[in-house]
Amino acid sequence: MTSLDRAGTELVNLNGVIAGAVDEESTPLGKRFFGACSRSKYNRKLIFIVEPWIEHKKRLVAPLSPRYDIETFPDETALFARSSGRLPSLIMIDESTPPDGGEAAIRQLRLTPTFKSTPIIGMTRSKMSSFASTLHEAGLDCLVTSAPPQSLVEIVARCISRAVEDEWLALEENQRLALRKTIVVFKELPEKILNGESIKYEAIRESCHYLVEAVRGNEIDQILKNVKNHDNYSYVHSLRVAVLLAHFGNEIGLGQDELLILSVGGLLHDIGKVAIPPDILNKPGQLSDQEWAVMRSHVDRSLELIQCVENRPRGVMTIAAQHHEKLDGTGYPNGLKGSDLNELARMAAIVDVFGALTDLRVYKPPFMPAEALDYMRNMGPDHLDQRLVKMFRSMLLDTASLLRAI
Ligand SMILES: [Fe+2]
Ligand SMILES: [Fe+2]
Repeated sequence: MTSLDRAGTELVNLNGVIAGAVDEESTPLGKRFFGACSRSKYNRKLIFIVEPWIEHKKRLVAPLSPRYDIETFPDETALFARSSGRLPSLIMIDESTPPDGGEAAIRQLRLTPTFKSTPIIGMTRSKMSSFASTLHEAGLDCLVTSAPPQSLVEIVARCISRAVEDEWLALEENQRLALRKTIVVFKELPEKILNGESIKYEAIRESCHYLVEAVRGNEIDQILKNVKNHDNYSYVHSLRVAVLLAHFGNEIGLGQDELLILSVGGLLHDIGKVAIPPDILNKPGQLSDQEWAVMRSHVDRSLELIQCVENRPRGVMTIAAQHHEKLDGTGYPNGLKGSDLNELARMAAIVDVFGALTDLRVYKPPFMPAEALDYMRNMGPDHLDQRLVKMFRSMLLDTASLLRAI
């Protein structure tokens, strides 16, 4: 089963055509619908793998290729012979890379301006090898080639994300603090709750204070541009929803307290996805009915986590609880409809769908913003509040720099 979700819209690649497949019960016609989408912004990250052993190479490429574009090189000479093309987000180098080994190849990379600051992961047969200690001393990640596929993907994503987070240090204060503080909240909140630590709402609100300041100071396009390359898909989606919700609220004249609720609600609305197994969350193809049920449970998981936050405002809970509800009552988890859904829930549903459509996911390329807005307008009145969609649409279409940053 596909559905108007996995955070908004399920998109699949059919015979080489990128299409949006909207679930049967979500279309006015009551049947499956396919809509074409541009691939012009299909910005998957590129990884270089320098690996002389064919078997090792296969073992690396299989789990990584659904998520990343991969270029492989048998040795250092082939790597440096590549003179043009896209630059990689990460380079993975085997300890036995010919002609002089992984260490020599890394030294050479660091002397080459193009690759000077590209994140590197060294690959070794054993954590006890001298290559592993060299990597450790140089502050580089080390991967044992026999690592299970899922930890391989996690290590790669973490390494790419860390490099992006380091780049945030050079940003203006509000942008820097907005990004650095929200990523900490996003990563630590579930962990702290599971460890039984008490979490105060004030700490989360503080992280979003800078985000709201950036929105009010017209720095929103910088935030969106700088979060784009981060490799934690859930964080990128949630941060984009938080920023756009705060911007939406600001444009319609809401006050500081409401903007903070919108941004915290946006940041935490999908936090329960940490409890969804990665092989479902990041499955490249369509979900089975059973997997889809697990996926939908992220709403309850989010509420369970947010309920552990002391002094949480009701609005934050509402955003998390109702962002997948639809006006005609066909949404989830409670099938709320019409007047059951307040303005906050309606705004959250709009921004969530827009975020999901324009997000890059392992199972779909991103829509261009204007395409996403057209798509949402064409969804008709059953799902989203079209009066608010119209306001959201003109708010975005009025700001060219914002459209470019999304
Ligand atoms: Fe979402
Ligand atoms: Fe969601």
